[in-house]
Amino acid sequence: MATQRNTTESRGEFVTDAELGGSYTTANVGGQNVRQSMIKVSLEGTSDQVREYYNEISGFYDEYCESVGKECGAQNMAKIVESVQPSKNARILDVACGNGILGEQLKTLGYMNVDGLDFAQKMIDLTKSKGVFTNYICASIDPDKKTPVPDNAYDVVCMNGSMGVGLVSPKCLPELTRMAKPGGVVIFNITAYWVKTVADFGDEAMAANLRALVRDGLWTKWIREEHVYYKTTGEKAVGYIGTVAR
Ligand SMILES: C[S@@+](CC[C@H](N)C(=O)[O-])C[C@H]1O[C@@H](n2cnc3c(N)ncnc32)[C@H](O)[C@@H]1O
Repeated sequence: MATQRNTTESRGEFVTDAELGGSYTTANVGGQNVRQSMIKVSLEGTSDQVREYYNEISGFYDEYCESVGKECGAQNMAKIVESVQPSKNARILDVACGNGILGEQLKTLGYMNVDGLDFAQKMIDLTKSKGVFTNYICASIDPDKKTPVPDNAYDVVCMNGSMGVGLVSPKCLPELTRMAKPGGVVIFNITAYWVKTVADFGDEAMAANLRALVRDGLWTKWIREEHVYYKTTGEKAVGYIGTVAR
């Protein structure tokens, strides 16, 4: 079993499936092992390079999702949203929405007011071509910069498979919370690769982060759960649901 890396700042090295001791999802699509290259760009690239990478793979991201059974994770996240916010009129923001795989599941459940945000313009264009969202926001989520989204705008701020090294950092949780209404919820998950290989995304570090949000009066409570993310291998993600303070 691989040892955990230290911090998101120090990044870490690529950990192979064999080192992880399990069956991890891979798929050769668009002439590359997408999952591996995704992780490597996140570990080694600058934020601009990560954005450019997602622009580049937007042409075959749907095919990648299908080949690894990624719809399963999005379905499970959509069910979590429904369990905490059953009103189909609720205003929902899908953060780092990628190809809109979560937005599509929310639409299937009947949600009518779902917006999508991503920093890769070509991912936003892809979701536009499918008509997934009500509003399309091309913007970056950063810990120290306000996203161009008003305060207290959404009943649910959710994010699927986008917290990790080089992606959206746990340090962005106050910013995600700012965009949610008081009494609303922030829901996100972390895929097993990051949970197992980088200590910042492990249970202990995340619990400390979330306890700090409660201590600082941003959240009133949070819960942790696990759900299947990649249908092909049964690989899981750890989900967190935080209730925003009134
Ligand atoms: C692994 S993909 C997940 C996409 C989608 N949520 C899904 O479930 O398939 C990560 C997405 O996050 C976006 N992203 C990464 N970091 C971001 C940031 N700081 N702000 C906004 N979008 C970001 C990328 O452009 C990419 O579309």
